[in-house]
Amino acid sequence: MGAGIAGLFAHAGCKVSLVDLSESLLQRGWRLLEMGQAALLDAGLREEGDAEADQKRITTTTRLDEACEGVDLLVEAISEDLDLKREMFGKFDKMCPAEAILATNTSGLSISAISTATRNSGRVAGMHFWNPPHIIPLVEVTKGDETSDETAQALMDVSRLLSKKPILVRQDVPGFVGNRLQFAVVREALHLLAEGVASAEDIDTAMTAGPGIRYGFMGPLRTADLGGLDVFRAISEYLFTALNSSGDAPPYLSNLVEAGKLGVKSGEGFYQYGAEDAPRFLTRRDRALLGMLKALSKEEGDKHG
Ligand SMILES: NC(=O)c1ccc[n+]([C@@H]2O[C@H](COP(=O)([O-])OP(=O)(O)OC[C@H]3O[C@@H](n4cnc5c(N)ncnc54)[C@H](O)[C@@H]3O)[C@@H](O)[C@H]2O)c1
Repeated sequence: MGAGIAGLFAHAGCKVSLVDLSESLLQRGWRLLEMGQAALLDAGLREEGDAEADQKRITTTTRLDEACEGVDLLVEAISEDLDLKREMFGKFDKMCPAEAILATNTSGLSISAISTATRNSGRVAGMHFWNPPHIIPLVEVTKGDETSDETAQALMDVSRLLSKKPILVRQDVPGFVGNRLQFAVVREALHLLAEGVASAEDIDTAMTAGPGIRYGFMGPLRTADLGGLDVFRAISEYLFTALNSSGDAPPYLSNLVEAGKLGVKSGEGFYQYGAEDAPRFLTRRDRALLGMLKALSKEEGDKHG
């Protein structure tokens, strides 16, 4: 995520320092950055020469202290581990200028818990990019209990400068908004699969050929408005009690993980993957998503034009 986010800032004209623990990890990030740039060029969203110009604005380093010198904004995208993030925010607080904003790309950990490792929680906020960061427009700007309005507003403004679509998450709730919506769907999909209601392929198709198609254009609340709130209330009355509401990770998922079936990275998850399948699938995914985004942004343009 870090390398992709660095690419976004560089394309907006910012000078960026990309930090990781070793040269080989930096190189891994750089390769991901280049793949993203190639996908954008291929889709006609970047011009020849953009990739090189953007790369020139990014320096890579393993020296955190050097990278923090004089920064206006730090976006942390290290592993999703609260203790580690707290430890690092303690360091950022000491190494960065006092007026710098400290943002975390956490997928849903508590912003308030992370910020208590600093002396000024007012300058700490969530800035959650979605994967792949060079494509997905959403950025969730989340306020911790003590995040200042100025910090949140600055991150909303910066997100727009990156041509992203920011939303303001006013309360520091686990998973913010996007992952709460996403995991409500994942929980139900796992439940349906474990109960044998439909196959993995058919459950996925129910989303990609059904509500998923709509959601790129309009969210669940506008969908309800269009469907009629009386109709949605009637369905809610008999359906909500039938939905899975378990508070635990389902045994079905735990069994797969315990068996080493981790998805694409281990060659098997809900589906099987050969060595060549993963990169091919990622390329196809990027092309499809960019095509959909182009169609949707034309629709937006037509609406405003
Ligand atoms: N992968 C996703 O789909 C996704 C989407 C949105 C947000 N996020 C969030 O972004 C963050 C990073 O996720 P990722 O998928 O890119 O993980 P990743 O493991 O691919 O990358 C994390 C990087 O941080 C580096 N790192 C760890 N400790 C470090 C330290 N002390 N100093 C410098 N670098 C350090 C690691 O070496 C690694 O290269 C997590 O908080 C994650 O929840 C991930």
